[in-house]
Amino acid sequence: MENRSSKRILVTGGAGYIGSHTVAELIRVGYQVVVADNFSNSRPEVLEALHKITGVAIPFEKTDFSSLNEVEDLFAHYQFDAIIHFAAFKSVNESVQRPDLYYRNNLISLLNLVDVALKNGVNKLVFSSSCSVYGDPDQLPVSESTPLKKAESPYAFTKQIGERILQDYTHDGTLQNIFLRYFNPAGAHDSALIGEYPLQQPNNLVPVITQTAIGLRPSMDVFGSDYETSDGTCVRDYIHVVDIAQAHVKAIDRLLSLVSTKSLTEIYNLGSGKGNTVMQVIHAFEQVSGQKLNYQIKDRREGDVIKVYADVSHAKKQLGWAAEKSLHDILLSAWNWEKALEIKNKKQTTIS
Ligand code: WQD
Repeated sequence: MENRSSKRILVTGGAGYIGSHTVAELIRVGYQVVVADNFSNSRPEVLEALHKITGVAIPFEKTDFSSLNEVEDLFAHYQFDAIIHFAAFKSVNESVQRPDLYYRNNLISLLNLVDVALKNGVNKLVFSSSCSVYGDPDQLPVSESTPLKKAESPYAFTKQIGERILQDYTHDGTLQNIFLRYFNPAGAHDSALIGEYPLQQPNNLVPVITQTAIGLRPSMDVFGSDYETSDGTCVRDYIHVVDIAQAHVKAIDRLLSLVSTKSLTEIYNLGSGKGNTVMQVIHAFEQVSGQKLNYQIKDRREGDVIKVYADVSHAKKQLGWAAEKSLHDILLSAWNWEKALEIKNKKQTTIS
């Protein structure tokens, strides 16, 4: 993709986990970026970290996408060539407790964004989707043509509805969508300046492991060991967050180099294509860190699918993207990030 430096990309939720890693990659390859975020599940210090990583003071606009006025203001101030839309609530558990928050925030934000974008002639959109749109798949590995089953949570349903909204919006004749369906994102930037840093306690496997290893948690639970898998624990497709970020660059490159102006929707699975059980991840972490993990086997967790991992051939063939980092890389980078957080928090407590 030539002359990226003349192209400006709006990254909504760009202070978040996958958003911040994607901003770093977009700038690294030469794009101009504007970050819009309301810090509902991210922190302003991530922007300073991105400045350190990229050497660029990235334009930032505090924006709540569920407010139509704020979205209109944003588009009144900037000309965008394309959009990557991350800004959404993403906790499966929380969505079960508070479906109202999830439907309101995730769907109204998307509708505001796409309506205002199209009104301003911005018609290229990368949508942050999720393997959770597949529900509990009957066949493995999961490909983009695997039929979508019933969403297992309101969060997953907002992703299914979001994809359907954008597909139906292509009837306007101009909207060009790429949906990226993430499997299990994990790990952190090699600099250990950015990583998974939600405002609430994380409940995903890898951050729970690193928090247990560093002593923030006395122990961790393994949810179920009686599944029909090699060691009785669930299988997931763990994918490095930097690999995911690089897939977003490929998607933006593709949208901006399209000759056709016709509407389209393309869908890509972002996974490693490999499945690992919970116990395999735990043992791999113990090897990587040299730390013994304190865990206990507990009952199954409501809503967990037994096995899910991706068929990634479509992204390789059409997007020219494949995961490059291993489970070892994921766990080492996550561990380095956890250790960096410990130093940062210690510094903050001594200062305050
Ligand atoms: C993984 C496995 C748990 C924590 C997540 C997101 C979802 C989507 C995919 C983006 C499961 C087990 C976990 C713990 C455990 N991502 N586990 N003890 O549920 O696959 O889904 O990634 O859209 O939105 O939620 O990820 O990391 O929570 O669980 O045993 O303390 O680890 O039972 O088998 P999940 P997870």
